[in-house]
Amino acid sequence: MGTGRWAVPSAIDTVMTWNYDIENADLRALYEKAKRDQWNATTQLDWSLDVDPQGDVLNDDINPNVALLRDSDIWRKMTPKERRQLRYETLSWNLSQFLHGEQLAIFVAGQLTSAVPWIDAKLYGATQVVDEARHAEVFYRYLNEKVEKTYELSDTTRGIFEAILSESRWDIKYLCLQVILEGLAMGLFTRMYQSAIDPLLKELLHFVRQDEARHFAFGVLSLRDYYASELTEAERREREDVAYELCTAMRGRTYPKEAWEEMGLPVDECRRAMAEAARRSQLQLSSFNRVTSALKTIGMLSERMRPHYADIGLLKYENEGLEELKTMGEVAAA
Ligand SMILES: [Fe+2]
Ligand SMILES: [Fe+2]
Repeated sequence: MGTGRWAVPSAIDTVMTWNYDIENADLRALYEKAKRDQWNATTQLDWSLDVDPQGDVLNDDINPNVALLRDSDIWRKMTPKERRQLRYETLSWNLSQFLHGEQLAIFVAGQLTSAVPWIDAKLYGATQVVDEARHAEVFYRYLNEKVEKTYELSDTTRGIFEAILSESRWDIKYLCLQVILEGLAMGLFTRMYQSAIDPLLKELLHFVRQDEARHFAFGVLSLRDYYASELTEAERREREDVAYELCTAMRGRTYPKEAWEEMGLPVDECRRAMAEAARRSQLQLSSFNRVTSALKTIGMLSERMRPHYADIGLLKYENEGLEELKTMGEVAAA
């Protein structure tokens, strides 16, 4: 992996508050839960376990990088050795994108912690910064020690990272990171957790997923009340558009482009084959199954937007996990 740096300018106000009292009991309960559920990747994961990164790390039937290509000519023409390499390269690519996403999350959670006006959210946000640091730590360690190959940030998501980092309005940053990307991360991590055969990867994802569920709850709980009372109609429409654009952008960009390039595979053909198979199997879309209901909960799924979400196949998830979202305050307090 390159040793270069990437500096993204951003202008976001740091807001201090002199009100230290509990204003939002749900968020304070989530903060308590975050303190209670801290974990240490160095001592709680068994790093002595051997991993064969060329072997059965993930179950082909649930791993979209294999499952969505298996009906194509590309797959049929591959030798067993090439198929093993495809599993290996896409595993490394996927985990590398998670790693870079976690680094993004450290900074965006930090920016949010300073910009959000409520003390309850600031305290909670500080715990999230630590969580995201731990996630970057574990993904890097697994990649470095077990997979022994790391990819750079994919070209296709670089622009999305840049837009979120440089966004100056805190609530839009919140919406993009805490609701959409955290919701998507939960979907992706859950799918990888379900497909993981390697016990170390499974355990690692189990811990990470628990943290991400809390981060997602944080976004939904914060914006649910804020968006219900604080937005003008024009502001609401703008946020609805931003949310929809991010969903559309992310939906088309979880293809392992650089892994295919590494193997000399035809990128456009691979993408077409995967997209076609995804339409049939729903595997690709299912990583969004938490996002639509969360957007509904925070009031971003208006009559104006519903047909657009239907067009990209996401409206059908509008009630998925909705009961859980409604009771997140109680869940957080448990
Ligand atoms: Fe994370
Ligand atoms: Fe997170």
